[in-house]
Amino acid sequence: MFEKISLEMADFIQRSPSCYHAVSNLAEQFQAAGFTRLHESRPWELKPGNGYFFTRNGSALIAFRIPEGTPAGFMIAAAHSDTPAFKIKSVPELAGEHYVQLNVEQYGGAICSAWLDRPLSAAGRVAVREGDRMVSRLVDLDRDLLLIPNLAIHMNRKINEGVALNPQVDMLPLFGQEGARDRFLPLVAEAAGVAPDQILAADLFLYLRESSRIWGAEREFLSSPRLDDLQCAWACAKGLLNCEVSHSIPVCAVFDNEEVGSATKQGADSNLLQDALLRISAGIGRTADAHQIALASSMMASVDNGHAIHPNHPEKADKINHPHLNGGVVIKHSANQKYTTDSISSGLFQMICQRAEVPVQVFANRSDVAGGSTLGNLSNKHVSLNTVDIGLAQLAMHSPYETGGIKDTWYLLRALTAFYHTVISCDESDAYMIE
Ligand code: CO
Repeated sequence: MFEKISLEMADFIQRSPSCYHAVSNLAEQFQAAGFTRLHESRPWELKPGNGYFFTRNGSALIAFRIPEGTPAGFMIAAAHSDTPAFKIKSVPELAGEHYVQLNVEQYGGAICSAWLDRPLSAAGRVAVREGDRMVSRLVDLDRDLLLIPNLAIHMNRKINEGVALNPQVDMLPLFGQEGARDRFLPLVAEAAGVAPDQILAADLFLYLRESSRIWGAEREFLSSPRLDDLQCAWACAKGLLNCEVSHSIPVCAVFDNEEVGSATKQGADSNLLQDALLRISAGIGRTADAHQIALASSMMASVDNGHAIHPNHPEKADKINHPHLNGGVVIKHSANQKYTTDSISSGLFQMICQRAEVPVQVFANRSDVAGGSTLGNLSNKHVSLNTVDIGLAQLAMHSPYETGGIKDTWYLLRALTAFYHTVISCDESDAYMIE
């Protein structure tokens, strides 16, 4: 059961080498389950009992279901589609005397050393001219095509003492030799099924060719590219597809650009979620006042992976507030509210998990470590509601090959399925009822 769910999730990651592929695959999944595709550029007609979704920029997605009868609050689970990687520049080829390299820049905070000496490919999307129209096409070169070679230890004797990697010098992938000149764009065009001169622009990223693996003495570990945060994005979507109908409006939000601060039109620090919730309320005939009342009985789970205690470096974790692999869903705390969790949202989420018989564990940074942040607090600037920051424990976050626990995907899926189904109401004494 644990292995089956993890393999299903890993298959989704495998088919999603870029955020555009991830959102396209999620959209396909919702469509196959009978959800209707909406467009921000068109009016929305919402009917009780039906599911809907729309995408923004091809890299963010919001899906929801309208309940029968009088709807209660929104139960929102949000993750992100993007991953730290290297983006290929507009003029891609750097041709030298013996080699052709690709010119790339860093996207987000990748662990650069882990990208070296491994077969890579490129994927993303291209903007294509079709007469007077411009359309977007997914591209996956889907072959062992590129590699960023390390410097030999003989040329850098201090390589094992920590090495500074300059993105403009050390991170350029090798593409070929003389014969590779002017070959990259035609390869992209071929993969997109268009002529090279039709391509106006591209958003292409490097990705690791390594496949997802289950391993360990009892097959307890799962290693894969892009676990952060496609593992959670998959669970957010699948949880909505699995959840039983209640009076709540379950909303799955997958944002882009979390790794670069979320402040884009398709990021969590935008009006995307706010716009969607307002249109849902308008579509079911809620007044502005009724919308605000619904928000007071709503909840959001900001779902992004967290750090498991490291086997070689337990001193990097808080002494007791640290999660481990296969220990269940992680609730993340931060006194400075880099994570939105407080006693109310943690309490509500724990009650939901207890009912679903899902174990939870806690994370807090060591008090002398700044740590990371995620999308929950940025989203709350636009839509303010009780929010809990959760995720799954993993090792080597932001490596192109990350490691998690085999049971945890199942725990998260089970927790989110129950979360979406839950109806929360807040009374005059500020007590919460959970149905
Ligand atoms: Co993340």
